[in-house]
Amino acid sequence: MHTEERTFIAVKPDAVQRGLIGEIIKRFETKGYKVIGLKMLRVSDAQAKAHYAEHEGKPFYPRLIRYIQSGPIVAMVIQGYGAVAGARHMMGCTDPLKADMGTIRADFAQVMEYNVVHGSDSVESAEREIAIYFNENELFADGKCMSELVIESLDAD
Ligand code: RTP
Ligand code: MG
Repeated sequence: MHTEERTFIAVKPDAVQRGLIGEIIKRFETKGYKVIGLKMLRVSDAQAKAHYAEHEGKPFYPRLIRYIQSGPIVAMVIQGYGAVAGARHMMGCTDPLKADMGTIRADFAQVMEYNVVHGSDSVESAEREIAIYFNENELFADGKCMSELVIESLDAD
């Protein structure tokens, strides 16, 4: 039985600065995942700390926090079958040098410290990370397709 999952994706500051927002969102949309939440924001101290709590104390942690706050990110929640693992597969591994060709990190990044995209690593992480960046009322999981909206608005006249 297939069930849909939600996952948290961020277009990281380097990718925003390089004008890759559209390219990265497009990958997930053309895969068929539904974008159910989307916003541009500056990551606050509290959000950065909560997001990367698992890495606190590691040598790269201070640089990681500086990086995620170095400019705005585009945060999004996408939904689809196996979306957590599927999105990670599309992103490629953490180090762009080792990521498979055709993945986002292989195609758009050169070094691990600037690897252009974040994706949750489990369903539990996804729910935790979504809550750091979105309120439930900012998510549109049961969004109707355009034709239904148009018909409804015409019927209302
Ligand atoms: P992400 O959380 O951003 O989706 O990346 P990931 O799961 O592939 O990698 P993770 O181990 O969670 O690391 C988070 C981010 O920290 C930076 N990093 N630098 N210099 C290093 O050894 C090192 N290791 C990790 C990367 O930017 C990575 O995306
Ligand atoms: Mg991670």
